[in-house]
Amino acid sequence: MGNPLQNIIGKFQGMFKGAPGTSVVGIDIGSSAIKVVQLKKKGGKALLETYGAISLGPYAGTDLGTVTNLSAEKISSALKDLLKESTVTTTDAALSIPSSASLIFMVDIPPQVEEKDYPSIIPIEARKYIPVPISEVSLDWWAVPKREDIEGGGDGKNQVLVVAIQNDIITKYREVAKSADINSTFYEIEVFSAIRANFGHELSSVLLFDMGASKTKLTIMDYGVVRTFHTVSRGSQDISNSISASLSIPFASAEQMKRDFGLAGGSDPKLPELIRLSTDFIFSEANSVVLNYEKKYNKTISKVILSGGGVLMKGFLDLAKANFKSEVVEGNPFDKVVAPAFLEPVLASAGPEFGVALGLALRKLES
Ligand SMILES: Nc1ncnc2c1ncn2[C@@H]1O[C@H](COP(=O)(O)OP(=O)(O)OP(=O)(O)O)[C@@H](O)[C@H]1O
Ligand SMILES: [Mg+2]
Repeated sequence: MGNPLQNIIGKFQGMFKGAPGTSVVGIDIGSSAIKVVQLKKKGGKALLETYGAISLGPYAGTDLGTVTNLSAEKISSALKDLLKESTVTTTDAALSIPSSASLIFMVDIPPQVEEKDYPSIIPIEARKYIPVPISEVSLDWWAVPKREDIEGGGDGKNQVLVVAIQNDIITKYREVAKSADINSTFYEIEVFSAIRANFGHELSSVLLFDMGASKTKLTIMDYGVVRTFHTVSRGSQDISNSISASLSIPFASAEQMKRDFGLAGGSDPKLPELIRLSTDFIFSEANSVVLNYEKKYNKTISKVILSGGGVLMKGFLDLAKANFKSEVVEGNPFDKVVAPAFLEPVLASAGPEFGVALGLALRKLES
């Protein structure tokens, strides 16, 4: 895939030559593709220097758009190719951890427990949620600021958002970074990167709907705080799979049909119907996540932000609008960075794919 704008970006890169500040790169290793975004700070603003994506399928001997499970060595070889193709010039990086290698949950802590005791209490509480030995994960947590009006009766319990990451994946990503000559100073679970890239100052309850190739990640935020996180184990690859199976065509042709026509139909009248087999399933899970949240907190979701390559499918936005009662928008992470005006239309339409990589780069700029 590479960066379709390599030449244009290469040129506009030159405009910032000699500018102060170091460049940073956000690296999103997704299940079907790696995405990178390079930013640089200038005058308190983040400048877009370059971005790009590469499909992992070919590195696994499969087609574009397929979900892969590659070794560190293969991932790093794809990453090296991508960094070169998209003319990334920095080795200062941040990497995302897939939601599938992590767990995110809320723990209720009794009010008498003081925050200084959390390091000993939380691992014990977390054990109830983690299906593997606690020694195999790294834990991090964050005490959710109290808001009596939404904590349901204010029973005095403190809520703590806990994240657990499999140690294996960190070891693997360190290896990837090392062999691609990357200095990655931090790792972040992809959801948090996507939130940073897609949210402004929303005060109401918002659902972030991130449809990748393998999974759809659903996060509900309220007053800037994560309230609920849920993964649907279906993504855009499932659409290509059902097109391929039902029409008896190779995966690559099905993937192409999905991208060319999407819900708008096309050469085969059955296409929209086949696509809806997967999207209906995902929407029905999303609706129950929304319903549960609305009941629990007695609030309504006021907006849905769409993210991930899967939402780029033709007709998807309208389908999502028909499904959700609230306002539905496509995320536009690139509006958080400065880029030449002539790139705006193309950046807006590519935005949903690059949210995680951009969110990582933004955080790295802050550090
Ligand atoms: N224009 C398009 N129309 C339809 N589908 C698209 C389009 N562009 C990308 N996709 C689909 O989006 C998916 C890739 O999205 P993305 O890059 O967000 O996934 P990923 O990060 O690799 O996966 P995951 O987040 O599940 O690990 C692929 O299934 C691809 O077919
Ligand atoms: Mg992804």
